[in-house]
Amino acid sequence: MKKGRYVVLASGRGSNFQAILDRTRDGYIPAECAALITDNPGAKAIFRAQDAGVPVDVVDYRAYPDKTRYEKALITAISRYSPDLVILAGYMRLLGDRIVDEFSGRMMNIHPSLLPAFPGLHAQRQALEYGTKVAGCTVHFVTKDMDAGPVIIQRTVPVLDDDDEDSLAERILTEEHQAFPESVRLFFEGRIRLSGRKVRILS
Ligand code: GAR
Repeated sequence: MKKGRYVVLASGRGSNFQAILDRTRDGYIPAECAALITDNPGAKAIFRAQDAGVPVDVVDYRAYPDKTRYEKALITAISRYSPDLVILAGYMRLLGDRIVDEFSGRMMNIHPSLLPAFPGLHAQRQALEYGTKVAGCTVHFVTKDMDAGPVIIQRTVPVLDDDDEDSLAERILTEEHQAFPESVRLFFEGRIRLSGRKVRILS
């Protein structure tokens, strides 16, 4: 059977991208990484892709006159690799309706909070400021509303009295590196059923 393919979109450090690459290389994820696409020519994720021999496309939003044209170029870049799944791994740009429609049900994002709590930027800081006792991460399908799509996997961590934003972010990141590869694996194993906004995982 032909192996499934995914494309990763990342804007920065790319540690989630690396975790997914590592778990692909060791056979845990039964698919191949077709490309990294980034909006940031300075993204550290680019070096990770190069080290792994993964093709890189830079679609720099600054090169386009408006969001519509930027997103058209992004759709073209992604579609060139015919991916079964599009993975947003620290992709820090809000996507418009057209691209979300194009990859509906096959685009995943990770967010460093237990959604629907603390969507948007600085989720870990929001959790600390609110004073929650648990925090965590969420992998979800991408829909038109930001950080509001059907939840695939969530993992929790305690919030400690002496946490600052960095220590909490680091504890959550460790869980992200488990939750994201697991979600990608479930997708390629055909074990995710989406019904309305509910995700069921087949055993
Ligand atoms: C991760 O913590 C991810 O959850 C977050 O950005 C970080 C990227 O790290 N994403 C968002 O906040 C999206 N709203 P990485 O580049 O090392 O994977």
